[in-house]
Amino acid sequence: MSETITPLIVGNWKMNGLGEQLSEITALSKELSKLEKQKCKTIICPPATLIRPACSKAGDNIMIGGQNCHAEISGAHTGDISAQMLKDAGAKYVIVGHSERRTDCFETDSQVKAKSKAAIAANIIPIICVGENEEQRKSGNAIDIVLSQINGSIPDDLKGNEIVVAYEPVWAIGTGLVPSISDIDEMHLAIRQALVKKLGENGDKTPILYGGSMKSSNSAQILEIAHVNGGLVGGASLKASDFFGIIATIK
Ligand code: 13P
Repeated sequence: MSETITPLIVGNWKMNGLGEQLSEITALSKELSKLEKQKCKTIICPPATLIRPACSKAGDNIMIGGQNCHAEISGAHTGDISAQMLKDAGAKYVIVGHSERRTDCFETDSQVKAKSKAAIAANIIPIICVGENEEQRKSGNAIDIVLSQINGSIPDDLKGNEIVVAYEPVWAIGTGLVPSISDIDEMHLAIRQALVKKLGENGDKTPILYGGSMKSSNSAQILEIAHVNGGLVGGASLKASDFFGIIATIK
Protein backbone atom coordinates (compact mmCIF):
# COMPACT_ATOMS: atom_id res chain seq x y z
CA MET A 1 0.00 0.00 0.00
CA SER A 2 1.31 3.44 -0.86
CA GLU A 3 1.46 6.43 1.46
CA THR A 4 0.53 8.84 -1.29
CA ILE A 5 -2.41 7.11 -3.00
CA THR A 6 -5.66 6.99 -1.01
CA PRO A 7 -6.80 3.36 -1.03
CA LEU A 8 -9.98 2.49 -2.93
CA ILE A 9 -12.21 -0.41 -2.00
CA VAL A 10 -14.71 -1.04 -4.78
CA GLY A 11 -17.63 -3.44 -4.60
CA ASN A 12 -18.82 -4.90 -7.90
CA TRP A 13 -22.29 -6.31 -7.37
CA LYS A 14 -22.34 -7.72 -10.92
CA MET A 15 -25.88 -8.90 -11.87
CA ASN A 16 -27.02 -9.08 -8.26
CA GLY A 17 -29.32 -6.78 -6.36
CA LEU A 18 -32.98 -5.83 -6.23
CA GLY A 19 -34.38 -2.78 -4.47
CA GLU A 20 -34.33 -4.53 -1.12
CA GLN A 21 -30.51 -4.90 -1.30
CA LEU A 22 -30.18 -1.12 -0.98
CA SER A 23 -30.42 -1.72 2.77
CA GLU A 24 -26.84 -3.10 2.53
CA ILE A 25 -25.67 0.33 1.36
CA THR A 26 -27.48 2.00 4.25
CA ALA A 27 -25.88 -0.49 6.66
CA LEU A 28 -22.40 -0.01 5.18
CA SER A 29 -22.70 3.77 5.35
CA LYS A 30 -23.68 3.47 9.00
CA GLU A 31 -20.65 1.27 9.79
CA LEU A 32 -18.32 3.65 7.96
CA SER A 33 -19.71 6.63 9.82
CA LYS A 34 -18.60 5.06 13.11
CA LEU A 35 -14.94 5.24 12.03
CA GLU A 36 -12.99 8.19 13.38
CA LYS A 37 -11.32 8.64 10.00
CA GLN A 38 -12.21 7.03 6.65
CA LYS A 39 -9.56 4.43 5.78
CA CYS A 40 -10.27 4.53 2.06
CA LYS A 41 -12.58 5.73 -0.67
CA THR A 42 -15.49 3.28 -0.64
CA ILE A 43 -17.31 2.65 -3.89
CA ILE A 44 -20.24 0.36 -4.70
CA CYS A 45 -21.09 -0.51 -8.30
CA PRO A 46 -24.62 -1.92 -8.23
CA PRO A 47 -26.59 -2.92 -11.33
CA ALA A 48 -27.59 0.12 -13.42
CA THR A 49 -31.20 -0.12 -12.22
CA LEU A 50 -30.06 0.71 -8.68
CA ILE A 51 -27.56 3.51 -9.33
CA ARG A 52 -29.88 6.43 -8.65
CA PRO A 53 -31.54 5.03 -5.52
CA ALA A 54 -28.14 3.76 -4.31
CA CYS A 55 -26.82 7.33 -4.47
CA SER A 56 -29.54 8.51 -2.15
CA LYS A 57 -28.69 5.76 0.39
CA ALA A 58 -24.94 6.20 0.15
CA GLY A 59 -24.45 9.20 2.40
CA ASP A 60 -21.19 11.07 2.07
CA ASN A 61 -18.93 8.10 2.81
CA ILE A 62 -19.78 5.87 -0.18
CA MET A 63 -19.59 6.68 -3.87
CA ILE A 64 -21.61 4.84 -6.50
CA GLY A 65 -20.34 3.54 -9.83
CA GLY A 66 -21.58 1.75 -12.94
CA GLN A 67 -20.40 -1.62 -14.26
CA ASN A 68 -20.13 -0.75 -17.95
CA CYS A 69 -20.80 2.08 -20.39
CA HIS A 70 -21.09 2.54 -24.13
CA ALA A 71 -18.35 4.44 -25.95
CA GLU A 72 -20.79 6.88 -27.52
CA ILE A 73 -22.79 9.64 -25.86
CA SER A 74 -26.17 8.65 -27.31
CA GLY A 75 -27.71 6.95 -30.31
CA ALA A 76 -29.31 3.79 -31.66
CA HIS A 77 -27.81 1.28 -29.24
CA THR A 78 -30.74 -0.54 -27.69
CA GLY A 79 -30.07 -1.72 -24.17
CA ASP A 80 -26.85 0.24 -23.71
CA ILE A 81 -26.06 3.03 -21.28
CA SER A 82 -23.74 5.97 -21.94
CA ALA A 83 -21.22 7.33 -19.48
CA GLN A 84 -23.15 10.59 -19.48
CA MET A 85 -26.29 8.69 -18.38
CA LEU A 86 -24.36 7.07 -15.54
CA LYS A 87 -23.10 10.48 -14.50
CA ASP A 88 -26.64 11.87 -14.67
CA ALA A 89 -27.82 9.06 -12.38
CA GLY A 90 -25.13 9.97 -9.85
CA ALA A 91 -22.23 7.63 -10.69
CA LYS A 92 -18.69 8.82 -10.02
CA TYR A 93 -16.89 5.74 -11.37
CA VAL A 94 -17.49 3.06 -14.00
CA ILE A 95 -15.90 -0.37 -14.35
CA VAL A 96 -14.78 -0.99 -17.95
CA GLY A 97 -13.30 -4.08 -19.55
CA HIS A 98 -14.23 -6.48 -16.77
CA SER A 99 -13.18 -9.99 -17.81
CA GLU A 100 -16.81 -11.12 -17.70
CA ARG A 101 -17.62 -8.54 -20.38
CA ARG A 102 -14.44 -9.35 -22.32
CA THR A 103 -15.65 -13.00 -22.33
CA ASP A 104 -19.46 -12.67 -22.52
CA CYS A 105 -19.59 -9.68 -24.89
CA PHE A 106 -16.24 -10.16 -26.70
CA GLU A 107 -15.03 -6.70 -25.66
CA THR A 108 -11.62 -5.86 -27.09
CA ASP A 109 -8.87 -3.64 -25.72
CA SER A 110 -9.70 -0.93 -28.25
CA GLN A 111 -13.38 -0.95 -27.21
CA VAL A 112 -12.30 -0.74 -23.58
CA LYS A 113 -10.09 2.22 -24.48
CA ALA A 114 -13.01 3.95 -26.24
CA LYS A 115 -15.26 3.34 -23.21
CA SER A 116 -12.57 4.73 -20.90
CA LYS A 117 -12.34 7.87 -23.03
CA ALA A 118 -16.13 8.25 -22.97
CA ALA A 119 -16.12 7.94 -19.18
CA ILE A 120 -13.41 10.58 -18.79
CA ALA A 121 -15.27 12.90 -21.18
CA ALA A 122 -18.38 12.48 -19.00
CA ASN A 123 -16.35 13.27 -15.88
CA ILE A 124 -16.48 9.74 -14.49
CA ILE A 125 -13.40 7.78 -13.49
CA PRO A 126 -13.03 4.52 -15.43
CA ILE A 127 -11.82 1.48 -13.47
CA ILE A 128 -10.01 -0.30 -16.29
CA CYS A 129 -9.80 -4.07 -15.73
CA VAL A 130 -7.04 -6.34 -16.97
CA GLY A 131 -6.02 -9.89 -16.10
CA GLU A 132 -4.77 -13.16 -17.53
CA ASN A 133 -6.71 -16.41 -17.74
CA GLU A 134 -5.62 -19.73 -16.26
CA GLU A 135 -3.95 -21.00 -19.41
CA GLN A 136 -1.98 -17.77 -19.84
CA ARG A 137 -0.84 -17.94 -16.20
CA LYS A 138 0.20 -21.59 -16.55
CA SER A 139 2.16 -20.94 -19.72
CA GLY A 140 4.16 -18.17 -18.03
CA ASN A 141 2.68 -15.36 -20.16
CA ALA A 142 0.67 -13.56 -17.49
CA ILE A 143 2.77 -10.40 -17.33
CA ASP A 144 3.05 -10.03 -21.13
CA ILE A 145 -0.71 -10.50 -21.54
CA VAL A 146 -1.58 -7.98 -18.82
CA LEU A 147 0.88 -5.37 -20.10
CA SER A 148 -0.50 -5.72 -23.59
CA GLN A 149 -4.04 -5.21 -22.21
CA ILE A 150 -2.76 -2.12 -20.34
CA ASN A 151 -1.25 -0.68 -23.48
CA GLY A 152 -4.34 -1.42 -25.56
CA SER A 153 -7.00 -0.37 -23.05
CA ILE A 154 -5.66 2.85 -21.50
CA PRO A 155 -6.19 6.07 -23.47
CA ASP A 156 -2.94 7.61 -24.70
CA ASP A 157 -3.77 11.25 -24.19
CA LEU A 158 -4.60 11.43 -20.50
CA LYS A 159 -4.19 14.91 -19.04
CA GLY A 160 -4.06 13.98 -15.39
CA ASN A 161 -4.85 11.35 -12.88
CA GLU A 162 -8.15 10.29 -14.44
CA ILE A 163 -8.13 6.50 -14.28
CA VAL A 164 -7.97 3.52 -11.93
CA VAL A 165 -6.52 0.18 -13.04
CA ALA A 166 -7.74 -3.14 -11.63
CA TYR A 167 -5.72 -6.33 -11.97
CA GLU A 168 -8.09 -9.28 -11.81
CA PRO A 169 -6.66 -12.67 -12.75
CA VAL A 170 -9.61 -14.38 -14.44
CA TRP A 171 -8.91 -17.71 -12.71
CA ALA A 172 -9.16 -16.03 -9.28
CA ILE A 173 -12.60 -14.48 -9.87
CA GLY A 174 -15.31 -16.23 -7.90
CA THR A 175 -13.17 -19.36 -7.41
CA GLY A 176 -11.69 -18.84 -3.95
CA LEU A 177 -8.25 -19.07 -5.59
CA VAL A 178 -5.84 -16.18 -5.03
CA PRO A 179 -2.35 -15.74 -6.53
CA SER A 180 0.59 -15.93 -4.14
CA ILE A 181 1.62 -12.68 -2.50
CA SER A 182 4.82 -12.69 -4.54
CA ASP A 183 2.87 -13.16 -7.81
CA ILE A 184 0.57 -10.22 -6.96
CA ASP A 185 3.62 -8.18 -5.97
CA GLU A 186 5.40 -8.99 -9.23
CA MET A 187 2.34 -8.18 -11.37
CA HIS A 188 1.51 -4.90 -9.62
CA LEU A 189 5.12 -3.74 -9.92
CA ALA A 190 5.08 -4.57 -13.65
CA ILE A 191 1.80 -2.64 -14.04
CA ARG A 192 3.20 0.34 -12.12
CA GLN A 193 6.29 0.43 -14.36
CA ALA A 194 4.12 0.22 -17.49
CA LEU A 195 1.89 3.04 -16.22
CA VAL A 196 4.88 5.29 -15.50
CA LYS A 197 6.27 4.56 -18.97
CA LYS A 198 2.92 5.39 -20.56
CA LEU A 199 1.71 8.26 -18.37
CA GLY A 200 4.86 9.77 -16.87
CA GLU A 201 4.45 10.99 -13.30
CA ASN A 202 0.69 10.40 -13.40
CA GLY A 203 1.50 6.71 -13.69
CA ASP A 204 2.94 6.89 -10.20
CA LYS A 205 -0.32 8.28 -8.84
CA THR A 206 -2.73 5.90 -10.59
CA PRO A 207 -4.41 3.53 -8.14
CA ILE A 208 -3.89 -0.16 -9.00
CA LEU A 209 -6.51 -2.43 -7.42
CA TYR A 210 -6.32 -6.17 -6.93
CA GLY A 211 -9.48 -8.22 -7.57
CA GLY A 212 -10.29 -11.93 -7.39
CA SER A 213 -11.66 -13.77 -4.34
CA MET A 214 -10.72 -10.95 -1.98
CA LYS A 215 -12.29 -11.33 1.46
CA SER A 216 -11.57 -10.17 4.99
CA SER A 217 -9.46 -13.28 5.66
CA ASN A 218 -6.93 -12.44 2.90
CA SER A 219 -7.31 -8.68 2.38
CA ALA A 220 -4.86 -7.52 5.07
CA GLN A 221 -1.99 -9.39 3.42
CA ILE A 222 -2.94 -8.37 -0.11
CA LEU A 223 -3.51 -4.71 0.74
CA GLU A 224 -0.07 -4.50 2.31
CA ILE A 225 1.70 -5.20 -0.98
CA ALA A 226 3.62 -2.16 -2.24
CA HIS A 227 1.72 -1.36 -5.43
CA VAL A 228 -1.68 -2.64 -4.36
CA ASN A 229 -3.78 0.49 -3.74
CA GLY A 230 -7.06 -1.20 -2.96
CA GLY A 231 -9.40 -3.95 -4.02
CA LEU A 232 -12.16 -4.72 -6.52
CA VAL A 233 -14.45 -7.08 -4.68
CA GLY A 234 -17.27 -9.21 -6.09
CA GLY A 235 -18.98 -11.77 -3.84
CA ALA A 236 -17.73 -10.27 -0.58
CA SER A 237 -19.22 -6.86 -1.44
CA LEU A 238 -22.85 -7.99 -1.42
CA LYS A 239 -23.25 -7.98 2.34
CA ALA A 240 -22.32 -4.81 4.23
CA SER A 241 -20.75 -6.85 7.05
CA ASP A 242 -18.43 -8.79 4.67
CA PHE A 243 -17.46 -5.67 2.75
CA PHE A 244 -16.87 -3.62 5.88
CA GLY A 245 -14.74 -6.53 7.15
CA ILE A 246 -12.37 -5.96 4.21
CA ILE A 247 -12.25 -2.19 4.79
CA ALA A 248 -11.48 -2.80 8.46
CA THR A 249 -8.28 -4.68 7.52
CA ILE A 250 -6.70 -1.59 5.92
CA LYS A 251 -3.80 -0.57 8.14
P1 13P B 1 -14.95 -12.10 -6.62
O1 13P B 1 -14.50 -11.18 -5.52
O2 13P B 1 -16.33 -12.65 -6.41
O3 13P B 1 -13.93 -13.14 -6.94
O4 13P B 1 -15.09 -11.19 -7.94
C1 13P B 1 -14.04 -10.35 -8.28
C2 13P B 1 -14.50 -9.47 -9.38
O5 13P B 1 -14.71 -9.92 -10.51
C3 13P B 1 -14.74 -8.07 -9.08
O6 13P B 1 -14.88 -7.32 -10.23
